[in-house]
Amino acid sequence: MRESGGRPVIVDCDPGHDDALALLLAAGDDRVRLLGVTTVAGNQTLEKTTRNALKVLGLAGVAGVPVAAGRDRPLSGELNVAEDIHGSSGLDGPVLDLPVAEVADVDGVELMRRLIVGSDEPVTLIATGPLTNVAALLTEHPEAGARVRRIVFMGGSTGRGNTTPYGEFNIVTDPEAADIVLRSGLPVTMIGLNVTHQALATEEIIAEFRAPGTRLGEFCADLMTFFASTYLRVFGFEHPPVHDPIAVASVIDPRIVRTVAAPVAVELSGTYTRGATVVDLHRRTDRDPNAEVAVGLDVDAFWRLLMASVRHLEK
Ligand code: BDR
Ligand code: CA
Repeated sequence: MRESGGRPVIVDCDPGHDDALALLLAAGDDRVRLLGVTTVAGNQTLEKTTRNALKVLGLAGVAGVPVAAGRDRPLSGELNVAEDIHGSSGLDGPVLDLPVAEVADVDGVELMRRLIVGSDEPVTLIATGPLTNVAALLTEHPEAGARVRRIVFMGGSTGRGNTTPYGEFNIVTDPEAADIVLRSGLPVTMIGLNVTHQALATEEIIAEFRAPGTRLGEFCADLMTFFASTYLRVFGFEHPPVHDPIAVASVIDPRIVRTVAAPVAVELSGTYTRGATVVDLHRRTDRDPNAEVAVGLDVDAFWRLLMASVRHLEK
C-alpha cells in the first residue's frame, strides 16, 4: 500500500479507456491515497474489466493496491456492454501483453466494506462505472455505508444522454443502483456528461501523452487514439470526451469542478427515458437537494493534473 497522507479513496470502475486514466490519476497524485480498486460489469464483462484494471495498475508500477471483482450484472435486467465504444477487450487500442497481478481473493463489495471499516479516516468512494457495487455495499452493509465520507460518481447528465437520448451509460446500465445511491442520504457528487463533454482528448493532448516516449505515455496516447476513433464513428465527435478522471480530479482538487446542490432523481420506468437523471437545477419542484451536481469544469487545470499524475508514475 502506498504510504501518503492523502485522502483515502476507493475507485470502483469498469475499465474502460477513461476509467484507465481515472486509475492513473488516483494512483499518481499524493493528495489521494488509493486504498483499493473494485471492478464492476459495465463497459465490458466483469472478467474483462477486472483484467483491464490489473493491467493498467501493473503497467503503471502500482503495487500493493488490492483489486477485487464485484458484481457481474446490474441489480435488474441484462448487462449491455459498451463494445462499440471500448472494443471487445474493453480496452482496445494499446498492445499490452504484460503478466498481470492476481485479483484479490475477496468479493469487491466485501473489499470495499473492509477498507471502509478499517480506515482511520472516512473513505471517499469514487465510482466510474455502473453503481451496482456501491448500491450493494449500501444495502448489504449499511453500517459501512454510513462511514463513507462521500460518493463521487461519473454518470448521468443535466441534459441529454449518450446511451439513450436522455440516459447516460453508467446510469442506464443499472438505474436501480443509481437510485439507491441517490436516495441514500449520504453526501453524493454527480459528475455528468454536461461537464465531461468539455474534457476532450485533442491531438495536442494525445501528443503530450506520447511526448516522453515512455511505455505509460504511449499507452495513454494509444488508448485515446482508439477512443477518438469510436467516438468519431458512433457520435461524430471530432475529439473524445474523457469522462471518468474528472470524478477523481474533483476529489483531488475541488476547485477544478464547480458544483451546485440540486435534487436528482433517476427515471426508473419512463417509456423512453429509463435511466435518465432528472436534475432540478432551477428548483422547480419541492424536492430537497440530494446531490452536489457538477456544472462547471476548469479544463486546463484538469489536463494539467492528469498529465502530472502520469508523469509522476513514469518516474
Ligand atoms: C461513461 O460510460 C463509459 O463508457 C465510460 O467509461 C464512462 O464511465 C460515460 O458515459
Ligand atoms: Ca467507466
